[in-house]
Amino acid sequence: MKTSEAIKKRYSCRSYSEKKVNKKTILELLRLANWAPSASNKQNRQFVVISDRNDREWLAEMNHQEHIGEAPVVVLVTYQRGIYFKNKEDYEKGLGDWQMRPSGEVNDLEGMWEKWGIQDAAAAVENLMLAATERGLATCWLGIMDFEGVKRKFGVPRDFEPVCLVTLGYVKPAHSQAAARQRKPIDKLVHWGKW
Ligand SMILES: Cc1cc2nc3c(=O)[nH]c(=O)nc-3n(C[C@H](O)[C@H](O)[C@H](O)COP(=O)(O)O)c2cc1C
Repeated sequence: MKTSEAIKKRYSCRSYSEKKVNKKTILELLRLANWAPSASNKQNRQFVVISDRNDREWLAEMNHQEHIGEAPVVVLVTYQRGIYFKNKEDYEKGLGDWQMRPSGEVNDLEGMWEKWGIQDAAAAVENLMLAATERGLATCWLGIMDFEGVKRKFGVPRDFEPVCLVTLGYVKPAHSQAAARQRKPIDKLVHWGKW
């Protein structure tokens, strides 16, 4: 499958069959997820693979989305705080001679690193979804979460932050067609040179 085909074919699946996804496939998808770019190549994303029925039902109840319980696999995607640099000095040193720093004042390094963590995780999520699509699997990105509750339930260490859940499985045959998906005209989203 061509990349452009996978991009268009992927859709948010909210109805799964009971067919299991084998561990080898899950690992292959996560390996491909981790081929996504990441800040300083820290690969700042860790995944919790949740397949236990009670745990999936707990998640479904947690954010009132029944389809989570139906999916045979739910992947909890996290990133680690404080992984890039300790402080401004560490950052300047870490960049060395690369000159990869804004020439203006950077007054929110912490904020920038938080954004890096989310981007590292999100890039992996999209890879995961496209790779799943290529293999005939379906996914759905879920951003609604009781973040603290999820951390407690699945033993996520304090310095890790959950970003999202991704359901993964095979589509119920009767639901194999995605609902009509729409996108805004691209000229409403693009600014050339200046906003
Ligand atoms: C950050 C984010 C959070 C989302 N949260 C949810 C969610 O909680 N439940 C859900 O069913 N879909 C969720 N989605 C999926 C979107 O609703 C979906 O991507 C969008 O409607 C476009 O449809 P498509 O993915 O089929 O193209 C989320 C997507 C993103 C990127």
